[in-house]
Amino acid sequence: GNDLYSNLVIGHTRWATHGKPSIENSHPHFSEKGEFSIVHNGIIENYEQLKEGENFKLISQTDTEVFVNYISVQKGSTLQKILKACREIKGSFAIALLDKQSDKLFFAKRNSPLMVAHDGKSGMVASDMSVLADNYHSCWIMDDDEFGVMTNKNITFFNKNGEIIKKNKVFFNNSAFLDENNDEKFYMLREIKQQPFVLSQTYNRYFREEQNVDFDKLREFESYHFIACGTAYHSCLLGAKYIEKYCRRECKVSLASEFRYDNLLLSKSCLYIFVSQSGETADTIACAKLIKKEGAKCLAVTNVPYCSLNNECDFIMPTFAGKEIAVASTKAYTAQVFTLLILALKLSDNVDNKMLETFVETFTTANSEIDEKLLDKILTFKKIFFIGRGQDYVTSLEGALKLKEVAYINCIGMAGGEFKHGSLALVDNETLVIALSTQMYLKEKIESNILEVKARGGSVLLLSQFEHDVDVEFYIHLNKFDEDFMTIASIVPLQRLAFDYAIRLGYNPDKPRNLAKSVTVE
Ligand code: M6R
Repeated sequence: GNDLYSNLVIGHTRWATHGKPSIENSHPHFSEKGEFSIVHNGIIENYEQLKEGENFKLISQTDTEVFVNYISVQKGSTLQKILKACREIKGSFAIALLDKQSDKLFFAKRNSPLMVAHDGKSGMVASDMSVLADNYHSCWIMDDDEFGVMTNKNITFFNKNGEIIKKNKVFFNNSAFLDENNDEKFYMLREIKQQPFVLSQTYNRYFREEQNVDFDKLREFESYHFIACGTAYHSCLLGAKYIEKYCRRECKVSLASEFRYDNLLLSKSCLYIFVSQSGETADTIACAKLIKKEGAKCLAVTNVPYCSLNNECDFIMPTFAGKEIAVASTKAYTAQVFTLLILALKLSDNVDNKMLETFVETFTTANSEIDEKLLDKILTFKKIFFIGRGQDYVTSLEGALKLKEVAYINCIGMAGGEFKHGSLALVDNETLVIALSTQMYLKEKIESNILEVKARGGSVLLLSQFEHDVDVEFYIHLNKFDEDFMTIASIVPLQRLAFDYAIRLGYNPDKPRNLAKSVTVE
C-alpha cells in the first residue's frame, strides 16, 4: 500500500523453483515466529531432510520457507544461526534476510551470485551487478561461504567461522552498463536498435583502444572447445566455424547442461571457451569449475564484468553490449558473434581491419520492422520451421528460439539438409518455412530445400541478399555485407519478427512467462 514506509526492504522477482507460481510460494518467506523474512535465489537440495525432526508450520511448498525456519531454530545470535544453518545446507543460495529485532539485513551466498554496495548512508544487495550500478559507483562481490550484515550506516563481512574479514571493492566501468537511450517503450526493441552502436563500440574497444586480452597466449592452444547455454550456445556454434575457417584448428561446441554430466575427456592443449551474457549461468559455471579442477585452461567471453564465470577462468575477453534488460538476448548475441569473429581473426593473426570497419560503419537496423501485411500472413500459419545451412543454420536456430521465447510459437530451427530426414513429413499448406540464404557456396543447396517444401504445399519466407531462381511467397531482402557478417545482418529481421509477433498477440516481449534473465539455478 502507499502508506507503507520502511528504510529496510527486501524483494524478489524470480520464478519459484518449488511449487506453482502463487502468492504463498512467492518471496519473501517468513519464519514461523515472524522474526525473520528472507529472499533467496538458488535451490536448497536437502530441504526435505532439513524438515525432519522439526515441527515447522509451513504455508508454502518452497525450499526457501524451510531454509528460513531452519535458520530460526538454530541457537545463538542471528549471525550464528545463519552460519550454523548454512553449514547444513546442500545446494545453492544467495540470501538477504531481515532480522526484525535488530533491524539489520544479513546476507550470504554459495553457488549463486551476490553483490553488495554501500556508501555510508545506504546499502543494497542484489544478484545482478547492473542493479547496483544504477545507484552506486562500486560494490563488493561476495565469494562462496562469505556472510555479511548491514544497516544504513555500516556494513561488516564475515568468513564461515564468523570472523570479520576485509573485502576489496570493485568499481563500475559505466560503459559496461551503458544503456544508450532510444525512445522505445520495450527494452527488447531498444536493444535490437542498439546493435549497430554495440558493434562499433566492440570494434573500437578491440582495434582502437588498448585492451588486455593476450591473444598470443590464446594462440598457443592446439584446439578450442566452446561451452554455453541457449543463445550463447548459438554464438559458440558460429565462433567454432570462424576459428575453423581462419585458424584451421579443431573446435568443439557443447551445451553446458550436457557437458557437465558427460564423460570428461579433457585436454591441456585445448582452450575451453565459455560464452555467457550474464556470466552467472549455473550450468556454464559448473563446467568451468570442473575443467579448472582438472588443470585445463579456460577463457570467459562475458558481458558483465566481475561476474562469477570470470572468477573461474584464466583469461577474459569481454563483450561490450552494455546492459541487456529484456530476457530475450538480442544485442548480447550479436556482440558475442562479433567478438568471436574478432577472436578468430586475432588468433589467425590475419586481421582485415578494413573489412570489419566497413561493416560497423554501414550496418544498420533501420527499416528492419516486419511489414504489417507480411506479419498478417505469417500469423495465419499453424506450423513454422526455420532452415539454413552453414552459418545460416545457426541463424535458423536462434531465429526459432526468439519466436518461441517471446511470442510462444511452437517452431523449430533446423539444418536445411536435415529437413528431408524426417521433418519434411510435417509440411502441408498450413506450414511456413523461413529459409535463410546468405552464403553463396550454399545458395543452390538451400534452393533445393525450398523446392522440396513447395512441392509439399508449404509456403516459404526467404531472407537473402541474392537473386534466387526459385519462386517464394514472401521475401525479405537483406543488405549485402561480407558473408561472415551476414549472420548478424540476417538475425535482426528475425529478432524483429519475434518482437512484432509478440506485440501483435498482446504479449510483453520483455518478460516472457516462465523465464528468467539469468539462469542461476540448474
Ligand atoms: O547469461 P547467459 O548468456 O549465460 O544465458 C544463457 C541463456 O540462458 C540465454 O542465452 C537465453 O537462452 C536467452 N535469454 C535467450 O534469448
